[in-house]
Amino acid sequence: MYTSSEILNKVNESLAALRYDRKPSSLYEPIEYVLSLGGKRIRPVLMLLGYNLFREEPEKIMMQALGLETYHNYTLLHDDLMDNADLRRGHETVHRRWDANKAILSGDSMLVLAYQRVAQCDDAHLPAVLNLFTETALEIGEGQEYDMSFETRQDVTEDEYIEMIRLKTSVLLACALKMGAILADASDEDAYNLYKCGEQIGLAFQLQDDLLDVYGDTKVFGKAIGGDITSNKKTYMLINAVLRANDEQRAELLRWIEAKEFDRKEKIQAVTRIYDAIGIRELCEEKINFYFSEARKYLDKVSVPDDRKQHLRQYMNEMMKRES
Ligand code: IPE
Ligand code: IPE
Ligand code: MG
Ligand code: MG
Ligand code: MG
Repeated sequence: MYTSSEILNKVNESLAALRYDRKPSSLYEPIEYVLSLGGKRIRPVLMLLGYNLFREEPEKIMMQALGLETYHNYTLLHDDLMDNADLRRGHETVHRRWDANKAILSGDSMLVLAYQRVAQCDDAHLPAVLNLFTETALEIGEGQEYDMSFETRQDVTEDEYIEMIRLKTSVLLACALKMGAILADASDEDAYNLYKCGEQIGLAFQLQDDLLDVYGDTKVFGKAIGGDITSNKKTYMLINAVLRANDEQRAELLRWIEAKEFDRKEKIQAVTRIYDAIGIRELCEEKINFYFSEARKYLDKVSVPDDRKQHLRQYMNEMMKRES
């Protein structure tokens, strides 16, 4: 069995060994660029840890794990364009360094490369693997569409928000763990419990991402702080702030949400101050802890000896201590 840091090293080595020598090189440069900027590699690590619960030598399924990381990075190219974000992993986003067309077209090619990599699995597992991957990829598009359409809606409920982040973020973590289980010939029940484990930690993870978007440190987070506030993302924090605000605070929040022209810094500061006054950070942290403990319960149900779960359990703890 490998520790998660051994697995992470293998993932990074394998990613670095991938060659992009097709032409034109200008199409592949942004792909190599974004994949070389680091990132936590959560999806491939989860997949290999999931496999390693049942079988040795997780490197056997490295190509599928790299496929999921390629897919994730494709979503980032398009997401940064859609979210108008300038910074990713501490560096300029692809659409800023090049242009929107590059983010679209290099992103599209990454999606195809992701499929090519995932599909390089043995014939016996291919139908189940492709079925899971395709369903997941469709759901992510749906989640991203909800996320964008919520920007201009003021009546988004907490349940709608949770379903949106389940689709845009959780299902890929769930897919990673389940694909590892499928490739290791785990039982349907174990594969299901790992899917649910990934889904629940994915909810905690996106809630945390939204929290860091307000309270994180750009230098560590690698993204600009306050982007969600300026684009009126309907996060758990904003939804609950509007619900719990007093009349004066609610009026101020709505004024900022409706403002067409504003000073970015001023809006971020004002909204953050209202969050602080209401105690939104603590509320969000409680919710994160709730989903994290749900995730742990699903891992508990997986039918392998407890000592085999130590590395995945440890990795999940580290995921929740994230600042980047
Ligand atoms: C960013 O994902 C997008 C979200 C789902 C929040 P990560 O936080 O896993 O980004 P990297 O890959 O580590 O940069
Ligand atoms: C990202 O959500 C989800 C996907 C990329 C599918 P965010 O928009 O919050 O991710 P970041 O904060 O830009 O990484
Ligand atoms: Mg974004
Ligand atoms: Mg987004
Ligand atoms: Mg975010």
